[in-house]
Amino acid sequence: MADPRVIGLRSVEFGVADVAATAKFYQERWGLPLVAEEGGSAFLRASGPEHHIVVLHQRATPGVVRTNLAAPDKATVDAMHARIVGLGAEALGAPGELAQPGGGYGFDFRDPDGQLFRISAEVARHADAADAEDRPDKLSHVVLNSDRVDAQTEWFCDVLGFKLSDRTERMHFIRCSTDHHSIAHARADGPSLNHVAFEMPSFNALMFGAGRMKSTGYPVEWGVGRHGPGNNIYTYFIEPNGLVIEYTAEVEQVDDSYKAGTPEDWKRPEGGFDRWRFSEPPSPRLRKAMHGEPQPPIAAAAE
Ligand SMILES: [Fe+2]
Repeated sequence: MADPRVIGLRSVEFGVADVAATAKFYQERWGLPLVAEEGGSAFLRASGPEHHIVVLHQRATPGVVRTNLAAPDKATVDAMHARIVGLGAEALGAPGELAQPGGGYGFDFRDPDGQLFRISAEVARHADAADAEDRPDKLSHVVLNSDRVDAQTEWFCDVLGFKLSDRTERMHFIRCSTDHHSIAHARADGPSLNHVAFEMPSFNALMFGAGRMKSTGYPVEWGVGRHGPGNNIYTYFIEPNGLVIEYTAEVEQVDDSYKAGTPEDWKRPEGGFDRWRFSEPPSPRLRKAMHGEPQPPIAAAAE
């Protein structure tokens, strides 16, 4: 296979202290229906066809456990595995049938920062996909912190077939589909989760979701605003484990003609924190949480 590459972001798996309580939050507040429970882990879906977009595992320390990427078919999975092994990266076993809800065929590997990923194909899809007016339709992007952003981005492009969409002083945005970015690498002291974004089908849906969160004890920690790179609308929250989650909408759709911007191209608009110059700056709690320091929940009283 000449040019095997991943073609999308499937799901993110979190480690959380209390799977049941966190699953309740993601169902009732964030808008993700429970689709399966297995081995003490909870699987939640969006309104789109992907079998699940969030998995919750019991762990002592909250954070990202694994990020799942999509390949178009089994042959691509095999080719990507061969490439990763050939480059000396850490593949964790050969490709095989996945014994988990939704099934599929894939393999796990660690990127050079040690973050765990899985590439899979032929995962079951839902036939009842339909946009909802206040719920996410898919996972939009995962942003990972690193103290070696340049090398991480280069590895994702060279090995996994991502393309660089934009660079700012703090972040590199890379794509594997028409979405402007599915992964971003953010400058930090070392590997950790910065945030995970969930796509809302419209600005209106984003506002319904943000209103549901705000009115039930989860304040908006940053936003509403419109980002520069990706041109997406955003609202950021801190979930019950102190991790940062984002509702986003209107992510820019790009093709191979897209010209990657540089930090010079993406200077912050004077007097503002977003394109509209409407958004307040991120809260101090959010800045800490995005830097990889999960912030204690303040919404427990609302549950
Ligand atoms: Fe984001």
